[in-house]
Amino acid sequence: MKQTPIIALDFATKAEVMTFLARFDTPLFVKIGMELFYQTGPSLIEEIKTQGHDIFLDLKLHDIPNTVGKAMEGLGRLNVDLVNVHAAGGSEMMRRAVEGLRQTNPDTKIIAVTQLTSTTEEQLHQEQQIQMTMKEAVCHYARLAQISGLDGVVCSPLEAAEITKKCGGSFLKVTPGVRPAHTAMNDQKRVTTPEEARQLGATHIVVGRPITQSDDPVASYHQITESWLG
Ligand code: C5P
Repeated sequence: MKQTPIIALDFATKAEVMTFLARFDTPLFVKIGMELFYQTGPSLIEEIKTQGHDIFLDLKLHDIPNTVGKAMEGLGRLNVDLVNVHAAGGSEMMRRAVEGLRQTNPDTKIIAVTQLTSTTEEQLHQEQQIQMTMKEAVCHYARLAQISGLDGVVCSPLEAAEITKKCGGSFLKVTPGVRPAHTAMNDQKRVTTPEEARQLGATHIVVGRPITQSDDPVASYHQITESWLG
């Protein structure tokens, strides 16, 4: 997988995606999420792969183990670079996800969402009724994902150092919630700059709106890449 920032292609239509990608003259690492995949289906994946881009298919599967296993078997055939599930689905669900994926694809990496970076500690306590700290809850899910055979987690950069301590440096830490200094937070709550994310041990960063909504997406991408790679 490429080391460059993963651009979240949170667009509503294929036409918008293609117009956006056409601005760039280098292969990118892009993230396709529910918004786009549910509109366009697998044909878009094929087209983006043909252009030489790496793909993180961010569908955050969360269902009973059998359903997730079978779904992963299907996703394996798409030959993307990275897929994910919600760790909250539990260890059996995660194990079955890996098994399903490996039925059809030996290479695609699979990671787990720990807690969404839009979730606050207050929501964790009040709404999810999880009484540990956010860091503890995230680290617990990270360990569970590792024991279940996953390659890493999606987490906030603010949790990356702790996860490295618990799960080792090669365990993937893919971190959204990244904002260059002096830009809008949007709905993200736990954020760092790209440089801080690197220092905290993130292995990959995911950046959406600071690039996709920028007046000059290519310049913003290069700025963020520079700050990330150091
Ligand atoms: O625009 P922005 O940089 O906030 O986009 C972040 C992307 O990462 C979005 O596509 C969002 O769905 C995704 N994401 C997240 N937090 C997670 C997992 C995924 O923000 N924990």
